This record gives sequence, structure tokens and C-alpha cells, in this order.
Amino acid sequence: KPITAPDISSCRASTDGFDLKSAIRTNACCPPNLSKKVKNFVFPNDNSLRIRRAAHKAPEDYIAKYKAALKAMRALPDDHPHSFVSQAKIHCAYCNGGYTQIATGNPDKILQVHNSWLFFPFHRWYMYFYERILGKLINDPTFAIPYWNWDNPAGMTLPAFFEDGNNRKEKLENPAFDAFRNTNHLAPAIVDLNYNGDDSGDPCAKQISINLTQMNNQMTRNARDTLSFFGGVYVAGSDPILNGDPSIGSIEAGCHNAIHRWVGDSRTINNEDMGNFYSTGYDPLFYAHHANIDRMWVEWKGLDKRNKEPKDEDWLNASYVFYDENEELVRVYNKDCVRYDKLRYAYEFSPLTWLKNRP
Ligand code: C2O
Repeated sequence: KPITAPDISSCRASTDGFDLKSAIRTNACCPPNLSKKVKNFVFPNDNSLRIRRAAHKAPEDYIAKYKAALKAMRALPDDHPHSFVSQAKIHCAYCNGGYTQIATGNPDKILQVHNSWLFFPFHRWYMYFYERILGKLINDPTFAIPYWNWDNPAGMTLPAFFEDGNNRKEKLENPAFDAFRNTNHLAPAIVDLNYNGDDSGDPCAKQISINLTQMNNQMTRNARDTLSFFGGVYVAGSDPILNGDPSIGSIEAGCHNAIHRWVGDSRTINNEDMGNFYSTGYDPLFYAHHANIDRMWVEWKGLDKRNKEPKDEDWLNASYVFYDENEELVRVYNKDCVRYDKLRYAYEFSPLTWLKNRP
């Protein structure tokens, strides 16, 4: 049987995967329960397409809109389902033990959307609603979130507008800023797609070439079949694997985890915000990171016609519950996010420079 997220009313405080005593963010991560009925998802009927642009080359007006939308989101009261805090808590609830598998009769098993084949579809849905909520806040049906193009040498530094501001005060006024980041890793530091907690100290050119080889590996050599790319089977009754496992997909285990750790503030016990699942949603970079992760799914499919999503019913019918842009609770299935064009977004082109970097 597929993993089925329960109605949000069964959510409980999150306690897995972080040290609660030293936590900077709350572990009360459940969504506001406005006791609404859970609806079935319907595809958007937008005429326009939302084009997600590469952060490092995004034009001024696009960045200005993005900041305006984030500002509006941050201005909502925390208990509003569209608030910045509510959006951040989604990750904490789905990844740190807020939900159990009660909907499939396994109340003693935690529901976890990482380290398995749920990783890509869950986050695709999460970004989908987040983007539409932001767009609605500024009344722009073409609004699209930026993607952090860390697989391309031109995008391998922390995108500038997330750190805009000449001093602390100005930075705190920047809605894309987050105070809990590793300040040693701000631009011009080159991301380390192999990062495991220690700075490699490699010169830029070498780090870039290591990164490109990593990308090539994770997108081709180590992702030759569906489950190597997506991650292993995880169904109702499975025990979640919290900290990595052989069944984690190539991208999730590789560049995905590396960027989380690389951005998180290493001076904190839990590596807030990006370095821990429970807190990562509090950093606007998280969503730009995951837009690029989602783009890797799109690009992987384009590399070879044999590259396909799992066909297993237990994958297709796995489901989650989100608040949509109209504050309605909807249940969404993996099978409905495969055709992402039907979700009415797309990615601005960026060349896959790593294609040539065979190890
Ligand atoms: Cu849900 Cu990047 O983690």
C-alpha cells in the first residue's frame, strides 16, 4: 500500500532529527487546523506559464517581485496557513516526525519524505503550492520562484539578493535574508557539492571541476535506473530511515544534502537553518535550492528516454496534504506531479556544463 499522509488533525509536535534543547526554531510544527475538509486536487487552468529563473542572472524586476511577495508572506500572522512560518513548518512536520502512518493503519510508524522515492514528488508539490501562494499575495499569476543554479559554474555561489543589505539592519529588512547561515560560505565562496562539514580549502577552479564531476556522476553514472535516481521503495508500514541509507537517491544523497549542510550555520548545534530538516524552511534559500533539485528531475528525464518515474502503484498513489493558494486543504498524489507542464511552470534554460565532466 502507498504512503498516505493523514489529515492534518493528527499532527503532533516534531521531535526527531534535532536536539530540542538547543533548537532555535519551534518544534510545534503542525499546520493551523481550520477544520476544513480535504479536497481533491484539480489542475490549474492558468493560461500563463510561470517561468522559474536562474537566481544568478535574474533581472531586477524579477527580484523585486520576489522580494515583494516574500515580504507580504512574512507580514501574515504566523497562524495563517500562508504565512512564512506556516510554510516553513510544513517541512518540519513531514520530515521530523509530525505525522505517523496512521492513515494506513500504522500509527506507530513515522511518516518521512526523505531518503526514499518520495523525495522528488513531495518537494515538487511543496514548491508548487509555495510558489502559487507567493504569486497570489502580490496578485501575479505569472509569479515564479527563482532557482539556485549551483550545477552551473556561474551559479556556484550563494545568489547575491539573498544577502542584499550593506549592514545588519538593512539585511534584516531584506525578506530574502536569513540570519542563520554559515557566513564563511557567502559569495564569493564556491559551493562544495561534496560538503560533509569540512571546508575542502580547494582553490576555486578545482572546486568547480569537482562539483561538475559530482553532477555528472549523480545525474548519469549513479542514476542509470529509476530507483538509483529517485531513491528506494518506501510504502505503508516501512520504517523511515532518518539519516541516509543505501536506498537514498543519487541527487538527494549528493548535491542536495551537501548544499543543505554547506549553507547551515555551523556555529549552532542543529546547523540551523538550512542544515537541519526541522528548520530549513525558515531560509528562503531552501526554496531556491529545491527549485533546482526539481529542475534536476526535469533534466534527468531529458538525458535519456529510458529515464522514467517509477511505475509502481505504490509510488503513483502516494499522497500528501497541503494548504493551497485559496487556503483549501488538498490531497495530492505523486502521479499528478509527473506532468509538471500541467502544473503550469517551467524552467528558464541553463546549459548543463557538467555533461562533459566524466570522471
Ligand atoms: Cu526536504 Cu532539501 O529537504
